[in-house]
Amino acid sequence: MPVIDSPAKIDDSNGSLGVLMPGLGAVSTTFIAGTLAIRNGFSSPIGSITQMGSLRLGKRNENREVNIKDFVPLTKLDNLVFGGWDIFDDNCYEAAINAGVIEKELLEQIKPELSLIKPMKAVFDKKFVKKLDGTHIKSVKGHRARIDALRQDIRDFKEKNKLDRAVMIWCGSTEIYQEPHDSVYGSLESFENALDDDNIAMAPSILYAYAALKEGIPYANGAPNLSVDFPAMYSLAAKEKTPIAGKDFKTGQTLMKTILAPGFKARKLGIDGWFSTNILGNRDGEVLDDPESFKTKEVSKLGVLEQILEPEKYPELYGDLYHKVRINYYPPRGDNKEGWDNIDIKGWLGYPMQIKVDFLCRDSILAAPIVLDLALFLDLAKRSGMHGIQEWLSFYFKSPMCKPDLYPVHDLFAQKAKLENTLRHLMGETLITYLGLDYYEDD
Ligand SMILES: NC(=O)c1ccc[n+]([C@@H]2O[C@H](COP(=O)([O-])OP(=O)(O)OC[C@H]3O[C@@H](n4cnc5c(N)ncnc54)[C@H](O)[C@@H]3O)[C@@H](O)[C@H]2O)c1
Repeated sequence: MPVIDSPAKIDDSNGSLGVLMPGLGAVSTTFIAGTLAIRNGFSSPIGSITQMGSLRLGKRNENREVNIKDFVPLTKLDNLVFGGWDIFDDNCYEAAINAGVIEKELLEQIKPELSLIKPMKAVFDKKFVKKLDGTHIKSVKGHRARIDALRQDIRDFKEKNKLDRAVMIWCGSTEIYQEPHDSVYGSLESFENALDDDNIAMAPSILYAYAALKEGIPYANGAPNLSVDFPAMYSLAAKEKTPIAGKDFKTGQTLMKTILAPGFKARKLGIDGWFSTNILGNRDGEVLDDPESFKTKEVSKLGVLEQILEPEKYPELYGDLYHKVRINYYPPRGDNKEGWDNIDIKGWLGYPMQIKVDFLCRDSILAAPIVLDLALFLDLAKRSGMHGIQEWLSFYFKSPMCKPDLYPVHDLFAQKAKLENTLRHLMGETLITYLGLDYYEDD
């Protein structure tokens, strides 16, 4: 990515922005219905940094606190247009009813707008999501033909809705675990050869991401799939001057982990074990009941503590940490997940203590504002001339993407500081280091 000047030259945010989502399931319909309800004044955007966040500028004694949405030029909610693909043909109202996240009374109030949002036919391959059988699927065969069909969908959608810009956010199911083997995914050339050859199967999320980047559309990956997280895609994003971000929305249990673990580490409290288990009963839970899809999720969830706690630096505190994550599909709960954590910590002289967390959360309620913020920030990044991996958006992800020679930062508060400083940088404001010695210079 080029060094971005401070202040950056940012194209204006007028005009409409399309938010395209592969997967019109629980998360995306909660995001769409929620944004429509907020737009119509029925509800409030709680959990969204772009809509509710504020930021300090300058020194603490200058009293300059600004709302993020007034500080950086973001697309207005009224100018968002929603679209997507799914393997089922339910319109957005029907899909939101099926997802069972938002109550029917609220959905009824926006039914006419929601019902108009109908999924385009999906690119799907059951090999990658074994638990689902859809009917609303493109019949074209071959990687290149599928990509072309998706690119045509994007162009048609932009034209039909008179859009100025678009972003794509993967809200589709978690695909089976895949290693990004260098022979295929290691360079743009080898990857494009593989697309031409059609010899190896390609996960649909990869084809969507490729189509988006070729159309110059920023792409974020809300699932732990490979999707856009391999060197060939980094090169393509650079070539197309388009931002990418991922992966796996940070909601529920991992959000709690990245809030709690930095605190224990800051106090140098040891941790012997962290056992996390979940019950959830939505379609996501059903897909994750397949061991191969769960493996993708498990890898994404397990990496968090390792990076935050740095056991190699603190072997006495974290060297023996036993970290286990389980997800159990339990239909009666629907989208209302319950996540239990048992944390075995130790303090002064090695005395053991236990912490129990029981988070009765609503997964999609936590994920929806993330989709909104990512759509607006990725669009801002594109208009600011940023491209490639947007590490400043790590705040939103369980498994943040970063340059291969770096390690990801998981600590939620470090991620927040990075996000805020990036906005200050873009707008030509002084970065905040929290040093503050100058306040006491005259004492
Ligand atoms: N809910 C959360 O809080 C949360 C948190 C982190 C990550 N995620 C991830 O976000 C994704 C969406 O979660 P959800 O709860 O909305 O799941 P969901 O099952 O309700 O929705 C996913 C939708 O994607 C569709 N789909 C699957 N393959 C597709 C393809 N190739 N093209 C188009 N559509 C396809 C499915 O038919 C389904 O409607 C999942 O991968 C999940 O793991 C969710």
